Amino acid sequence: MRLSSLVFAIVASLLHNPLPAGDVIENNSRVDEGRRLAHDFDKGNCLACHAAPTDPQAITKANIAPPLIGMRARFGDRQALRSQIWDAAKRNPETIMPPFGRHKILSNDEIELIIDYLYTL
Ligand code: HEC
Repeated sequence: MRLSSLVFAIVASLLHNPLPAGDVIENNSRVDEGRRLAHDFDKGNCLACHAAPTDPQAITKANIAPPLIGMRARFGDRQALRSQIWDAAKRNPETIMPPFGRHKILSNDEIELIIDYLYTL
């Protein structure tokens, strides 16, 4: 085999399998999908009311609701965070936050993806 074809073969195999499959990659894609759902006007639309100041991709200064920040520290209990998104009226019957789960705006899986994203904020 000529050297150039050997180099080509190595580069081609690296391009095909750039990284080994693993938790980090899996988690990153979950976070990306959660971010997409949270930012999407037709899905979470969380940024209509909440700022997410530590996410450079969240270009909003919305100030209707508390900023989504320090989420892991403030919502260490994943169930409490899930409940807030599923039906915010449980905690505050007067809330203007939509009951995303109860009204089937978001599925359980979508809420879980959004929580993975929120835990990076
Ligand atoms: C229409 C405005 C609105 C939208 C859209 C909205 N929220 Fe809220 N959210 C609020 C308000 C207002 C509060 C403050 C508490 C209350 O009124 O119940 C709140 C509270 C919260 C809290 C608790 C915050 C804290 O610091 O205690 C979390 C977490 C949260 N929202 C997450 C989300 C997520 C995630 C989305 C998108 C899936 C979202 N919200 C969409 C209005 C909104």
